Amino acid sequence: MSDKLIIFDTTLRDGEQSPGASMTKEEKVRIAKSLERLRVDVIEAGFPAASPGDFESVQAVARTIRESTICGLARALDRDIDRAGEALKEASRARIHTFIATSPIHMQQKLRMAPDQVIEYAIKAVKRARQYTDDVEFSPEDAGRSEEDFLCRILEAVIDAGATTLNIPDTVGYSVPEQFGATIRRLRERIPNSDKAVFSVHCHNDLGLAVANSLSAVMNGARQVECTINGLGERAGNAALEEIVMAVKTRKDVFPCRIAIDTREIVACSKLVSNITGFPVQPNKAIVGANAFAHESGIHQDGVLKSRETYEIMSAEDVGWTANRMVLGKHSGRNAFRTRMQELGIEFGSETELNDAFQRFKDLADKKHDIFDEDLQALITEAGVEAEDERIRLVTLRVCSETGEIPCARVGLRIENEEMTGTAHGSGAVDASFKAIESLVRTDSTLLLYSVNNITTGTDAQGEVTVRLEKGGRIVNGQGADTDIVIASAKAYVNAVNKLLAPRQRMHPQAAGDV
Ligand code: KIV
Ligand code: ZN
Repeated sequence: MSDKLIIFDTTLRDGEQSPGASMTKEEKVRIAKSLERLRVDVIEAGFPAASPGDFESVQAVARTIRESTICGLARALDRDIDRAGEALKEASRARIHTFIATSPIHMQQKLRMAPDQVIEYAIKAVKRARQYTDDVEFSPEDAGRSEEDFLCRILEAVIDAGATTLNIPDTVGYSVPEQFGATIRRLRERIPNSDKAVFSVHCHNDLGLAVANSLSAVMNGARQVECTINGLGERAGNAALEEIVMAVKTRKDVFPCRIAIDTREIVACSKLVSNITGFPVQPNKAIVGANAFAHESGIHQDGVLKSRETYEIMSAEDVGWTANRMVLGKHSGRNAFRTRMQELGIEFGSETELNDAFQRFKDLADKKHDIFDEDLQALITEAGVEAEDERIRLVTLRVCSETGEIPCARVGLRIENEEMTGTAHGSGAVDASFKAIESLVRTDSTLLLYSVNNITTGTDAQGEVTVRLEKGGRIVNGQGADTDIVIASAKAYVNAVNKLLAPRQRMHPQAAGDV
């Protein structure tokens, strides 16, 4: 067995299945570049058969990334596999990941198929995928609730058909560490041709055990872990990449594995994903939370000052925490701006794009003295947000709030080139602004979430706002950033409305369908 632990990141696929976390093609390429800098072995870029937009995103990632293997997900259906093969054509290394459910409940209720039929589909899918690439992964969906004898049968058959990675998903997050690890060990021992494939795991976090289950699997011979940045993913999410990587690196005595990840890129990648999806990272989150390396109590501080190892098992620098760095200011020129952006992995497609971004930077520098890397990232996210499906734009906002008075807002929007003004009262300035916008756009949506985060520190920091709206079962996240949080909130609301109005038809890979 190899001692290399393959890190397979599925932020762009399973991560995107979190309600409201959908990303544009450009955003996916930005995240993929960051994952490449992190030296992730495999990037699952999406589910190409879901929609033309998903196909194009996988294609764009495959075209751009050279160092990591790019993977596309496909149900065990000819047309899904053909779409994946097509989307991955330009990848320097391509993998097709095909799956079909194997638990009794999924086979009976969702697929309405007999077990033998499921095996037939799996074999056919793997063989078809092998026509596009030698790197084929197979997953028995809901393996965590599947019968072990059946898993042995189907896995042996797909290895014979050409699968090179066998991924064991705990789709509903039902497993517990000791039992899950033992299952991986027994599968490796019982399947006669198991040495011809790499065993992988893909754990969901419904019981908060995704990382523990994945690590238990590694102790029992799994040599690929599927995970996401910040643990993003369907429902309670997937195993968090940063936790898996740092556990294996920090406890070399327990995990006999090599990892290729450049851990110093972890924090930057985490911030980028949070910034793009609008999913904040909780302060006490391991590795990437703002408090992960902060010492509050006097005794701890004293110990850390005498010797860091008294209370720290990892160093903040090793995972990419640096003090907020003042990178640019009001007097920085275009070249300094472009150079810093390049260092952050942000490239501009044209001079016009660079000029637009530089103008935004200048506007921000007029309001805020010190500009940090995080401000620059937010600037680019916001530019992407505005470019995409922007039917409505915030032009003006005026709010009045005074003790003893009912807050009111007057908002000016440009709706498909026509300027309109709306006014409303509310319980606060933000509430009044949202009502004023709603009086013009009339989405009748439900506000599911409103959150504000400061991008850097200080009272002149930009506030980054996420607004989540729901209408007819569709959930979207809108983002906005500004040094004024009421304006940031209005921008976020308008961004969410734009997303809600954009037509989007996509299939969920695991919903009941033909398979
Ligand atoms: O959770 C799951 O089972 C999946 C599969 C598609 C691997 O995401
Ligand atoms: Zn999953």
